[in-house]
Amino acid sequence: MQKTTTPFPAAFGGGSGTMPRISHGRGSYLWDTDGRQYIDGSCGPAVYCIGHADPRVNRAVAEQMDRVAHGYRFSFTSDPLEEMTDRVARAMGADLSEMVFVTGGSEAVESAIKIALQYHFERGEPQRTRFIARHRSWHGNTLMATALSGFEARRRPFEGALPAVGRVSAANAYRPPEGVGENALVPHLVAELRAEIERIGPDRVAAFIFEPVVGAAGGAVPAPEGYAKAVTDLCHANGILVISDEVMCGAGRCGAWRASQVDGIVPDIVTTAKGLSGGYLPLGAAVYTRRIGDVFRAGSGAPLTAHTYSGHTACLAAGVAVQRIIEEEGLVAHVAGRAPRWIADLRQRLAPVEAVGDVRGRGYFIGIELVRDRETKAPFDPNLRLAERVRSEAMARGLICYPSSGNADGNAGDHVILAPPLNATDAELDEIAAKTEATLRAVLARIATV
Ligand SMILES: Cc1ncc(COP(=O)(O)O)c(C=O)c1O
Repeated sequence: MQKTTTPFPAAFGGGSGTMPRISHGRGSYLWDTDGRQYIDGSCGPAVYCIGHADPRVNRAVAEQMDRVAHGYRFSFTSDPLEEMTDRVARAMGADLSEMVFVTGGSEAVESAIKIALQYHFERGEPQRTRFIARHRSWHGNTLMATALSGFEARRRPFEGALPAVGRVSAANAYRPPEGVGENALVPHLVAELRAEIERIGPDRVAAFIFEPVVGAAGGAVPAPEGYAKAVTDLCHANGILVISDEVMCGAGRCGAWRASQVDGIVPDIVTTAKGLSGGYLPLGAAVYTRRIGDVFRAGSGAPLTAHTYSGHTACLAAGVAVQRIIEEEGLVAHVAGRAPRWIADLRQRLAPVEAVGDVRGRGYFIGIELVRDRETKAPFDPNLRLAERVRSEAMARGLICYPSSGNADGNAGDHVILAPPLNATDAELDEIAAKTEATLRAVLARIATV
């Protein structure tokens, strides 16, 4: 392993300060400069949805760069911008047809926040400035996105500077609020949100933000059936917008292009990034309904959110190329059809591993939660830094996965996310599963002796 110049923090699963040096990639594999091969079992942080170094995408980007890298959004439109707008609107469905393009998930979340605030302002409700979000959530790295996030380890140093946000429980069937049984879970969570809305004042809340399938902060946790519909109805009855943060779970990863489609809801604003351009170049978007767009058109004209690189032409060319491949190869339907067998295989394979408490997820977005005791669901001692050990062991075995921690109580609790490329072959899915099992067995055997 070669030394890194920038050690990455334990809250992002790092800590050792050493990592290999990337050389190149192809499809589901990456190689380091020592010639070691890695299978990308998590698409990094759920990004590289069609695999690495696809010549079709690289060609599209190179051709765009040869013409022009960037036609500044407020001087020009462009073919990639027009095509991507049509594609995203079609993929989102309903009337989620208007959008601002940005360069990643955090910017998408910030844009969503500004769109919600401006919508209420222009409708004559400028007092709606408060947001409600959930525990065990991650919405991004910028200050407001971090303020929305219920991820203690990633918030701690910034706590004093973060705007106050209303907070409700995560919707996690494996770790429900204490004393709440399975059938009572959704009504309990809806009552909790209602109480939080009442506490803040129904006419002061701008929006409720949630991840339909929680990513890094929970470990691919889908909401229980009926939850998304019930909270959406409650918000709408109170004039509150619903923001579905699909930066990690969206763009086809869950077997529907829009993750919240599976929940049968139409949010007011959807954030998307990561799989939008498959990591070839930075791209994200905040997509909103025509109803919100109509309010802007009747008022100031357009959402007041813009960055120098909003709608960057080469980034959009990458996005178009990736989305064409996803559509032409039917990858979203492929994931929907293939995923149930893969998660069943994983469950069967990991059932004998005593410390595997839960294997859950949706589509190609799977979380494996590790517990000290299967019966009580007690997490491991956070001082063991289990997630960090899993990451290192996996890398040593030629597997990239996405371990994280803090999902039980904000501090303790370890999980591993698997999020393979949507076009991974059956043999590659098997290799990821086998290497995951071997990694977990090796790490758990070692800590048993600690
Ligand atoms: C749900 C969710 N929202 C927002 C973000 C922030 O996205 P980015 O890291 O691209 O800024 C992430 C990143 O992991 C995420 O998972």
